[in-house]
Amino acid sequence: MNPAPLSRRRALQTLFCSSAALALNIRPDRAAAEVAKEALHVLMLGDFGTGAAEQIKVAGAMQKFVTDRGVKPTGLLMLGDNFYGRVKEGFSVDSPRWHKDIETMYPANVFPGPMWGILGNHDYHDNPGGEKVQMAYAAQPAVRWKMPSKWHRFDVGPAGKPLVTFICLDTNLPAISGGVDKKTKKPRNSMTAAEEKEQFAWLTAELAKPRAPFTVVAGHHPLYSNGDHGDSKALIAQWEPLFQKHQVHAYLCGHDHDMQHLEMKGRFTTHLLSGGGGARTRKLEGKHKVPFGKDVHGFTHLQIMPEALTFTHHSAEGGVLHTVTKLPDGSFKIG
Ligand SMILES: [Fe+2]
Repeated sequence: MNPAPLSRRRALQTLFCSSAALALNIRPDRAAAEVAKEALHVLMLGDFGTGAAEQIKVAGAMQKFVTDRGVKPTGLLMLGDNFYGRVKEGFSVDSPRWHKDIETMYPANVFPGPMWGILGNHDYHDNPGGEKVQMAYAAQPAVRWKMPSKWHRFDVGPAGKPLVTFICLDTNLPAISGGVDKKTKKPRNSMTAAEEKEQFAWLTAELAKPRAPFTVVAGHHPLYSNGDHGDSKALIAQWEPLFQKHQVHAYLCGHDHDMQHLEMKGRFTTHLLSGGGGARTRKLEGKHKVPFGKDVHGFTHLQIMPEALTFTHHSAEGGVLHTVTKLPDGSFKIG
């Protein structure tokens, strides 16, 4: 499907964003942003599962953010690469890493809501069957970790009148996460071709169903990115026409180890990349002219109001990096 033509308003916004990009990138962290107490709040982060100092630092910044402001987050969106590295004794639902790097890292007394999980490439590659372990952990009673399947949907907001439909997808298509490992030359684990087909049919059907006023799709790999991994052509080809047709307000992802906000000309969807959850950051390349990108550790706060979604990237130091507000008609406002 051809992209819808730019409205005058959106064209002006795109122009503004392009010209402001450099200034935004060099602006130092601002003071902490205020939050609306009556709003709903979701925090998200990607590429965090190292168990090392940087993950601890970002987790601490998330805790400080909610306690300082008296925010009660509805839940945490975990954007993949939830566990890095091979667990020597074998990765299972009883692995101590669940306690150390998930349950204690993001404590239930601060984040009592669900932790919606998305699978990253390291969740497939680093431990055999790691993706199945994460779904098995979620299947246990009374755990916050939510991963009912590799792709899943949940709605946030008042019962019977949700504000946001979240659609979580598995981006580990065979073309993206399969093939062979560059170092070991061994085949890499990924979704199967049948799963890719099944997920696409599910996504198509789900987007055709009644949804909340806002729709947000989340996956690990980006469609577009100025990070060192760059764009995912297979995802752009498959999903972007659906996002455009069904007016998906935002696509949330990680994979590149940085924080980005991308707007693609003529497209309805705002792209937010939050890959600063703990793994070592990597330099941005700047292929796309976009509102924001910075190779720092951090997390992203989503404030949900009936009339607007506001996404704010926060640094691990606690400062505000960048804010964008998305309106129901697809327009957006920086700051
Ligand atoms: Fe990744």
